[in-house]
Amino acid sequence: MDQTEKTEEQIKKEMIDLLMDKITGGLSERVVDYGSDPRNCGSLDRPDGYAKIKGPCGDTMEMFLKIQNDKIVDIAYTTDGCMTSHAAGSAATVMARGSSVRECLKISQSTILDHLGGMPDESKHCALLAANTFHKALRGWAVGKKK
Ligand code: FES
Repeated sequence: MDQTEKTEEQIKKEMIDLLMDKITGGLSERVVDYGSDPRNCGSLDRPDGYAKIKGPCGDTMEMFLKIQNDKIVDIAYTTDGCMTSHAAGSAATVMARGSSVRECLKISQSTILDHLGGMPDESKHCALLAANTFHKALRGWAVGKKK
């Protein structure tokens, strides 16, 4: 067989990849997974930290934190945004759950995008909204702690 000839398996794989790309609009597997089966979506009663932010796209995200001994012991988010905002909210909460506040300071738009395996340019602001909402909730907790 010619080295440049593709096997039937390779051709099948390419066709499946192309089809998946068409169906998911080029979204990563994790964005599709989190977006269609959101993690930590909901609210928490009497959170230690809370924030609500409306992004430039008009979508809103809320985050609820429970913190004990400087560790995120519970976290939840809600959003009225689309699938990619759910993926970003899920990613931020999955990354933060069980982590220390100090570790959580590293959570950013860029680390959320890395965790998700990237997002199309037009959806990257969803990761920024999740990061900003998370940090505002953390600041809310820090301010409440000082009082
Ligand atoms: Fe609005 Fe992503 S489209 S937050």
